[in-house]
Amino acid sequence: MAGAGISTPSGIPDFRSPGSGLYDNLQQYDLPYAEAIFEIGFFHRNPAPFFALAKELYPGNYRPNPTHFFVHLLHQKGQLLRMYTQNIDGLERLAGIPPEKLVEAHGTFATATCTSCLQKYKGEELRPAVMSGSVPKCSACGGVVKPDIVFFGEELPPHFLKYLTDFPLADLLIIMGTSLEVEPFASLAGAVRSSVPRLLINRDPVGPFVWGRRPQDVLQLGEVMGGVQALVEALGWTRELQALMAAGKTDGWQREPIRTVFSSVAS
Ligand code: APR
Repeated sequence: MAGAGISTPSGIPDFRSPGSGLYDNLQQYDLPYAEAIFEIGFFHRNPAPFFALAKELYPGNYRPNPTHFFVHLLHQKGQLLRMYTQNIDGLERLAGIPPEKLVEAHGTFATATCTSCLQKYKGEELRPAVMSGSVPKCSACGGVVKPDIVFFGEELPPHFLKYLTDFPLADLLIIMGTSLEVEPFASLAGAVRSSVPRLLINRDPVGPFVWGRRPQDVLQLGEVMGGVQALVEALGWTRELQALMAAGKTDGWQREPIRTVFSSVAS
């Protein structure tokens, strides 16, 4: 399970870190309150603030970091049942995690839908309008085209329901970089069997790691990359992670993997 905290090392702000989080830096959009920028009712009345923010966050300017590649390595080792992410930055796909191993619970910028006639678009088709600071309009009906990210007030994508079979099967749950403040995603943390170890890699204890600790819970508190590095070293996987990052998925949206703090360890 992952949240915005796994992408802050890639340069993308999270939502709630005091001072640096997105919700502390939206004054310029003159919102009634911060979360309005992701509320569907507000969006229908005034889509401009969201698209101004989308211009900052649009996929293509950021690259995955060792945390994303670690999850890819878990997959390569046959250990990844599924990655549930709240993030919309697309860095999991850029790190080479196969789409069928991903549940992007809060949607994705990779596709978009006209809010009037429901015509489908690729995220790339909206890029020119978003980057020019305008609101993307539907070529068929002139309606506003909205990226397929889940706004407050919208249903989560149907594939989120995979948790009903995945979580009872899991024999380890790793939770990284999330405040576990947003439902229904946050409740997944309690969906694994009580005997299953839950490893939290996060700056601070959150959710059930504060109010409902289980005997098998493990907390690795501090910087997420440091926590992942400690786990990778304990597993003896440092060189394999290095190799995976060096091979890094190169496509239109990514030049080469971010240089890793691990290089000092590996050499
Ligand atoms: N290392 C370790 N922990 C970090 C780091 C880091 N580099 N950066 C951030 N964190 C931690 C923060 O301390 C916080 O506990 O990650 C967590 C991020 O929490 P949020 O900012 O609330 O992000 P997230 O949990 O993903 O938010 C959930 O809220 O607004 C909605 O839809 C939005 O998906 C988002 C949801």
